Amino acid sequence: MPKLTVEGAGEYEIPAGKRLVLALEQDAGVDQLHACGGQARCTTCRVEFVAGEPDQMTVAERNVLAAKGVSGVRLSCQIACDHDMTVRVISRLAGSGRKDAGHPPAVQIEPAPEWVKK
Ligand code: FES
Repeated sequence: MPKLTVEGAGEYEIPAGKRLVLALEQDAGVDQLHACGGQARCTTCRVEFVAGEPDQMTVAERNVLAAKGVSGVRLSCQIACDHDMTVRVISRLAGSGRKDAGHPPAVQIEPAPEWVKK
Protein backbone atom coordinates (compact mmCIF):
# COMPACT_ATOMS: atom_id res chain seq x y z
CA MET A 1 0.00 0.00 0.00
CA PRO A 2 1.29 3.49 -0.75
CA LYS A 3 2.46 5.55 2.19
CA LEU A 4 1.09 9.04 2.69
CA THR A 5 3.14 11.32 4.91
CA VAL A 6 1.41 14.46 6.11
CA GLU A 7 3.81 17.01 7.52
CA GLY A 8 3.17 17.53 11.20
CA ALA A 9 0.54 14.78 11.34
CA GLY A 10 2.09 11.40 10.61
CA GLU A 11 2.45 8.55 8.15
CA TYR A 12 -0.45 6.50 6.86
CA GLU A 13 -0.83 3.38 4.72
CA ILE A 14 -3.42 4.18 2.07
CA PRO A 15 -5.38 1.72 -0.06
CA ALA A 16 -3.84 1.95 -3.53
CA GLY A 17 -5.69 4.30 -5.83
CA LYS A 18 -7.64 6.14 -3.14
CA ARG A 19 -8.28 9.80 -3.85
CA LEU A 20 -5.79 11.92 -1.96
CA VAL A 21 -8.51 14.23 -0.65
CA LEU A 22 -10.29 11.23 0.91
CA ALA A 23 -7.04 9.79 2.29
CA LEU A 24 -6.29 13.11 3.98
CA GLU A 25 -9.73 13.28 5.52
CA GLN A 26 -10.44 9.63 6.33
CA ASP A 27 -7.01 8.09 6.93
CA ALA A 28 -4.97 11.05 8.20
CA GLY A 29 -7.87 12.75 9.99
CA VAL A 30 -7.11 16.12 8.45
CA ASP A 31 -9.90 18.71 8.18
CA GLN A 32 -9.01 19.24 4.53
CA LEU A 33 -11.31 21.61 2.65
CA HIS A 34 -13.03 20.35 -0.51
CA ALA A 35 -15.70 22.99 -1.06
CA CYS A 36 -16.83 21.86 -4.53
CA GLY A 37 -17.00 18.22 -3.52
CA GLY A 38 -14.01 17.10 -5.53
CA GLN A 39 -15.12 18.46 -8.89
CA ALA A 40 -11.95 20.40 -9.77
CA ARG A 41 -13.72 23.73 -9.49
CA CYS A 42 -12.86 25.40 -6.19
CA THR A 43 -9.14 24.64 -5.54
CA THR A 44 -9.76 24.55 -1.76
CA CYS A 45 -8.48 20.96 -1.73
CA ARG A 46 -5.01 22.26 -2.60
CA VAL A 47 -1.92 20.81 -0.98
CA GLU A 48 1.79 21.44 -1.32
CA PHE A 49 3.98 18.47 -2.20
CA VAL A 50 7.15 17.91 -0.24
CA ALA A 51 8.01 14.65 -2.02
CA GLY A 52 6.46 12.30 -4.52
CA GLU A 53 4.52 14.85 -6.54
CA PRO A 54 2.77 13.02 -9.39
CA ASP A 55 4.19 13.84 -12.81
CA GLN A 56 0.78 13.69 -14.41
CA MET A 57 -2.38 15.63 -13.72
CA THR A 58 -5.94 15.69 -14.95
CA VAL A 59 -6.93 18.17 -17.60
CA ALA A 60 -9.50 19.49 -15.12
CA GLU A 61 -6.78 20.20 -12.54
CA ARG A 62 -4.52 21.87 -15.08
CA ASN A 63 -7.34 24.05 -16.33
CA VAL A 64 -8.69 25.23 -12.98
CA LEU A 65 -5.21 26.02 -11.61
CA ALA A 66 -4.46 28.03 -14.75
CA ALA A 67 -7.82 29.80 -14.65
CA LYS A 68 -7.30 30.86 -11.04
CA GLY A 69 -3.64 31.72 -11.55
CA VAL A 70 -2.53 29.29 -8.85
CA SER A 71 0.87 27.59 -8.93
CA GLY A 72 3.04 25.56 -6.57
CA VAL A 73 0.12 23.49 -5.33
CA ARG A 74 -1.79 20.42 -6.46
CA LEU A 75 -5.45 19.54 -6.07
CA SER A 76 -5.91 16.59 -3.75
CA CYS A 77 -9.26 15.74 -5.36
CA GLN A 78 -7.49 15.11 -8.66
CA ILE A 79 -4.77 12.81 -7.35
CA ALA A 80 -4.83 9.08 -6.66
CA CYS A 81 -2.59 7.59 -3.97
CA ASP A 82 -0.69 5.20 -6.22
CA HIS A 83 2.81 5.78 -4.82
CA ASP A 84 4.47 7.17 -1.68
CA MET A 85 4.00 10.90 -1.24
CA THR A 86 4.61 13.61 1.35
CA VAL A 87 2.33 16.63 1.47
CA ARG A 88 1.91 19.82 3.45
CA VAL A 89 -1.69 20.67 4.37
CA ILE A 90 -2.40 24.33 3.60
CA SER A 91 -6.18 24.56 3.24
CA ARG A 92 -8.03 23.37 6.32
CA LEU A 93 -11.47 23.96 7.74
CA ALA A 94 -9.94 25.30 10.94
CA GLY A 95 -9.46 29.02 10.55
CA SER A 96 -11.25 29.15 7.20
CA GLY A 97 -14.46 30.69 8.50
CA ARG A 98 -16.45 28.08 6.57
CA LYS A 99 -19.20 26.07 8.25
CA ASP A 100 -17.98 22.75 6.89
CA ALA A 101 -15.28 21.25 4.72
CA GLY A 102 -17.57 20.94 1.70
CA HIS A 103 -19.64 18.34 -0.09
CA PRO A 104 -18.28 14.81 0.35
CA PRO A 105 -16.12 13.89 -2.65
CA ALA A 106 -17.07 10.72 -4.55
CA VAL A 107 -14.87 7.63 -4.31
CA GLN A 108 -13.62 8.03 -7.86
CA ILE A 109 -11.90 11.05 -9.38
CA GLU A 110 -14.41 13.44 -10.95
CA PRO A 111 -14.85 14.64 -13.61
CA ALA A 112 -13.78 11.44 -15.41
CA PRO A 113 -10.02 11.96 -15.54
CA GLU A 114 -8.13 12.71 -18.72
CA TRP A 115 -4.43 12.55 -17.83
CA VAL A 116 -1.72 14.83 -19.14
CA LYS A 117 1.93 15.29 -18.22
CA LYS A 118 2.38 17.95 -15.58
S1 FES B 1 -11.14 21.55 -6.62
FE1 FES B 1 -12.83 21.59 -5.25
S2 FES B 1 -12.47 19.89 -3.99
FE2 FES B 1 -10.81 19.81 -5.37
